[in-house]
This record gives sequence, structure tokens and C-alpha cells, in this order.
Amino acid sequence: MSLSIHVKNLSKSFNSSTVLSDISFNLKAGTSTVILGASGSGKSVLLKCMSGLLIADKGTSIVVGGHEVGASHISERPAPISKIGFSFQLNASFDSLLVWQDIMFNEFINEVKTDEELIESAKTLLKMVELSPELAFSNSKQSSGGMQKRIGIARAIATQSTLLMLDEPTSGLDRETSEKISALIHELHHKMKYTVVSVSHDMHYTKTVADNVIIIKDRTIGWSGTLDECNNSNNEVVEKFFHS
Ligand SMILES: Nc1ncnc2c1ncn2[C@@H]1O[C@H](COP(=O)(O)OP(=O)(O)O)[C@@H](O)[C@H]1O
Ligand SMILES: [Mg+2]
Repeated sequence: MSLSIHVKNLSKSFNSSTVLSDISFNLKAGTSTVILGASGSGKSVLLKCMSGLLIADKGTSIVVGGHEVGASHISERPAPISKIGFSFQLNASFDSLLVWQDIMFNEFINEVKTDEELIESAKTLLKMVELSPELAFSNSKQSSGGMQKRIGIARAIATQSTLLMLDEPTSGLDRETSEKISALIHELHHKMKYTVVSVSHDMHYTKTVADNVIIIKDRTIGWSGTLDECNNSNNEVVEKFFHS
């Protein structure tokens, strides 16, 4: 079952500098939302606060799948809620690991399943992201940017979470590869009914995968609405991203 997320009064400061202030929105289970905003506007910080990789300021309410997790670190969240599939803006793969170990990292370090079982799962996931299963035995770091993005998405899916958080899944990729990634996320969202939250500045990606759009401006929500509303809006915040 996919998870809903309700964010209320989310703020985040680093020392005395406020990056995000009083942000509230609701994401229904099974919907896909793209968060847009200028570079440095706090998109990655927002996604990390939602996932618990960063701790939001006191007073923040974050309800995931009906559980209030507030401003907590991922390690303090109960098991089903802490299981978020997260792919990073920079392709964070592990230096000395093979691709199958990288994709199946959580289970690999738990040592519950055998290597053979994990390799089989990794191969299935590689096929899902349209990579060759044989890639399982190569080194993650030696793959191209597009492959590393796909490996990151495979790692996010491997958590078996129905909630995917993707930070710039197409950045730095050529047009053809980013169109393939957009189609892949669209398909995963529709077939598997995942709740997907992406941060992006790629309009093709946004138009392919978004049901809803949130635009961050001046530390808070500058605009939010459905993709259709976004396409038809002449709001100046929307125009800057969508129609320029
Ligand atoms: N761990 C951190 N410590 C201090 N400042 C940070 C940290 N992470 C992000 N910031 C600051 O927060 C602001 C928003 O960053 P970020 O969320 O990465 O922007 P973007 O919208 O480009 O993803 C930037 O000014 C950045 O320098
Ligand atoms: Mg970012």
C-alpha cells in the first residue's frame, strides 16, 4: 500500500540562516509530485527533512502513512515509515562495491539473505530500470552518469518502499537518457502505484511524471497545484519555470 505524506509548518534553519519557513502541503497516497525551485531554494533540504535524513526545526509536523514523525531523524522512525526509497542528487554509490551489492545495500549489510538471493533480486531490479543484468558484477563507480542514475533508482526500489523520493533524477544526463528515466519513473508510478516525490528543474521530466507541482520560492511555497493547472496558469512564478 502506498503512503501519504502530510507536511505542516515545516521550517529548517542552519545556525541562524533560515532555508525553509512554514511550509505546508499534503501528498495523497499514490500520487506523483514534482518540487521545482531555483537553485539553492531549499528543494534538497525539503526532501531530506521529509525523509528524515535532515532534522527539521521544532514545531514541524510530518505525518507519513498516518504516523506523526515530526522533526525526527530517520533512525528514530518506526520501520515501515523509515523505509523510504531515496535517490540522491549526486550519484552516491559506494566506492568499492559491485553493482549488486550497491543496489541491495541494506540487505547486504544485514547478512540475512545469501549472496545468490541478493544477486537474483539485483538482476531483476536492473531489468526493471532497463539495464543489463550482467552489470550486477561490475563496479558502480565505473558506470556512466545515466547508468548510475538508474542504479540509484534501482537502489531506491530495492528498499521495497512504496514511497520514492528522487532528488534530480535526470540532472546531468543527455536528453535521450533523461527522457528514458522520465518514462521509467512514470511507468513505475502508474504500474506500482508508488507515491513519488521528486525534486527537479527538468520541465520534460516534470510534465511526464507530475500529477502535482510545488514551486519553492522565498523559503516557502510560491505556487502549488495540479499539472493541468500549472500548464494553464499565467501566474508569474509558474511562468518563470514552465513557459520560459
Ligand atoms: N547541511 C547544510 N548545512 C548548512 N547549509 C546547508 C546544508 N544543506 C543545505 N544548506 C543550504 O541550504 C540552502 C538550500 O540548499 P539545497 O536544498 O541544496 O538547494 P536546492 O534547491 O538547490 O536543492 C543553500 O543555501 C545551502 O547552502
Ligand atoms: Mg538540490
